Amino acid sequence: MGLLIGKGSGSGKHCSALVQAGAGGYLCRMGIDVADLDWETATAMLAWQVDLGATEVIGDEPLNRYDLPAAVVRPASPVVSAPAAPAAPDPVAEAAAMAAASPDLAALRAAVDAFPHCELRRGARNTVFSDGHAGARIMVIGEAPGREEDQAGRPFIGRAGALLDRMLAAIGLSRDTPDPARAVYITNVLPWRPPQNRDPLPQEVEMMLPFLTRHVELVAPDILVVMGNTSAKAVLGQTGITRLRGTWGQGFGLPVMPMCHPAYLLRNPAAKREAWADLLDIQARLSQ
Ligand code: URA
Repeated sequence: MGLLIGKGSGSGKHCSALVQAGAGGYLCRMGIDVADLDWETATAMLAWQVDLGATEVIGDEPLNRYDLPAAVVRPASPVVSAPAAPAAPDPVAEAAAMAAASPDLAALRAAVDAFPHCELRRGARNTVFSDGHAGARIMVIGEAPGREEDQAGRPFIGRAGALLDRMLAAIGLSRDTPDPARAVYITNVLPWRPPQNRDPLPQEVEMMLPFLTRHVELVAPDILVVMGNTSAKAVLGQTGITRLRGTWGQGFGLPVMPMCHPAYLLRNPAAKREAWADLLDIQARLSQ
């Protein structure tokens, strides 16, 4: 503690903060005129300050610290800004870049397989890329793999796939022939099975859409067939498949026939009649 201020002869001095403490010493105290103090009083006050813990002399002149400016101006410390956090990845932009950098279907398949941002990939056994022949004039786009497709790594091989094959065969088409006049190419909006076959989430579709766009570009079919609401939304930007079906639209710069999904037809056999009409429409378009 440094309450004692100064030393030396202050005898007779008038100072509001200076108390003469005997020969050669004085102490600080507020509002006291040293001339009014006798030796005993001054000594008692010095003893009092020593009792308070004063241990040393810290200056030659008394300093009334109550008169100092209240604000202590500190030198400005340089502002150190936190290092910028690394930018969060943009899955859609990354998908677009990977898709654009794929010169052929093999490269695109590898790019889809390597795409790290879709959570569905973690729970999937296989990436289900496509089936059929790339020289086909017709490209069928389904929704997403189910259990069988996930296991086998091929689209539309379960019950819905078997119905799809029969529907295509009814108008002379097959995924198993390379003959361009009869060949079909098949893919899905999503290459990985959603858990418990739940509907794909909009953000899952959005981040995989650049791959589908490039897929259509590379296959370059004459027409697209979108099966079910998810693919109608992805390709045409519209939902309400029972209303949309049977009317040609435009997607990726190509004519698009929206149809009810074969899984829906299995649950609603009465809708097969309309599906048959859609198939005949497709056949007519291909024979033009
Ligand atoms: N349903 C789809 O939409 N695609 C498949 O591959 C299988 C079932």
